[in-house]
Amino acid sequence: MQPNLSYPPPPRRSEQLTPPSKTEGKTAPHWRVQDIDFSAIDRAAVQGNEDLFFLLTSASFIETGSDTYAVNLAEHFAAWPEIASWLSAQWEGEELQHGTALRAYVEAVWPAFPWQQAYDSFFAEYSQLCTVEELDPDPRLELVARCVVETGTTAYYHTLRELSDEPVLSQLLGNIRNDEVNHFKHFLKFFKEMQNESPVGRARIAKALYRRLKELRESDTEIALRHVWGHKGRYFKGSATTFEGMAQRIYELISRSLPADLAVRMLLKPMLLPPRVEGLIRTPICRLATRVMSY
Ligand SMILES: [Fe+2]
Ligand SMILES: [Fe+2]
Repeated sequence: MQPNLSYPPPPRRSEQLTPPSKTEGKTAPHWRVQDIDFSAIDRAAVQGNEDLFFLLTSASFIETGSDTYAVNLAEHFAAWPEIASWLSAQWEGEELQHGTALRAYVEAVWPAFPWQQAYDSFFAEYSQLCTVEELDPDPRLELVARCVVETGTTAYYHTLRELSDEPVLSQLLGNIRNDEVNHFKHFLKFFKEMQNESPVGRARIAKALYRRLKELRESDTEIALRHVWGHKGRYFKGSATTFEGMAQRIYELISRSLPADLAVRMLLKPMLLPPRVEGLIRTPICRLATRVMSY
């Protein structure tokens, strides 16, 4: 498919996009699921934690479903081979690994939960949402949207890690959070390179940020939670009595604990504001975000 000519053209070979060479000063060897000692989990510390059961299991579903998005995204950026190949060679594998690791953790702590069966029913509904039409037709704005998604996952795993006092889980959530930060950095870098070629105005960037941010609050997590709830079986029978009650509690917990400062700092990056302006507006936006999230 030919890209629309009003978009930046794919880079010539001599100026092809390269991923950031450093991650916060050094390149750490990437972690692997098989290196995590699931037998060392302190099960007593976590198995009675209903909030973590729902949060971890729903996250394992969404991460495991990433390959549907990855195929669509790689197709969307087919005219930018460096982006397309990073998506399929690195990003997709890392997102899927998040799903595999979270699933392994959930199955180790709550072995009677029928993960595969619950996932299959989740995926039947979720896969309907993962169509190319959901992506922004302007590749620059889709990169902005990806920055929002990666900000969301970074903040989410950061929050989950704060809620965990089980060492194996804390380690795992730390690994995933670092990957999400790295994904954000890649999407931001690709966006900046396209912006250099053919800039899109700040008003459109702001609109794309806002649109994707609004979507983050809905759909994905709600669908995942509903299918976890439907298959939880004997777990947490004596606790929340309705799905709505549980979901409300989970949303409140997450909103209360989300690191607004971190999220706002990341979200403002695609605006490419002069550092002085960014510094001036960050604090009032943070206050506003904290107020909005606590509703
Ligand atoms: Fe992920
Ligand atoms: Fe990610």
